[in-house]
Amino acid sequence: GAPVQADVSKLEPGQRMTVEWRGKPVWILNRSPEMIERTESIDADRLADPQSEAPQQPTYIEGPLRSIKPEIGVIIGICTHLGCSPLFKPEPDAEGVGVDNWPGGFFCPCHGSRFDLAGRVFRNVPAPTNLEVPPYRFDSDVLITVG
Ligand code: FES
Repeated sequence: GAPVQADVSKLEPGQRMTVEWRGKPVWILNRSPEMIERTESIDADRLADPQSEAPQQPTYIEGPLRSIKPEIGVIIGICTHLGCSPLFKPEPDAEGVGVDNWPGGFFCPCHGSRFDLAGRVFRNVPAPTNLEVPPYRFDSDVLITVG
């Protein structure tokens, strides 16, 4: 599949957009400073692979936010359990997620897997691994090429 370019100039902090790459939804998320802090402060014990040691992201992506720039997350929007598309539940203790102290992220309605705003999977859910991060680069401050 061909690379796809996304323009994030109109993506406000807290918002998410979706582009299609190789037939898959790719989420591009503009994390606010508060969302970044919330994600970075999640207790690693709650996550199955907090450092993303399993290979589902490019090697140049590091750290808890799993991104090139802290604010911009680029994540394939397909649950690593059986392929449903998780819902965007960015607010803490969002309704429907069903856990106390929910820090905000993505919730898969099919079998209840939960991921944070970096796509890291929580423990004790069916999804075995973090959401995948596709290869991407910044062509400018606001243009991203995925693929
Ligand atoms: Fe997402 Fe099963 S497909 S939890």
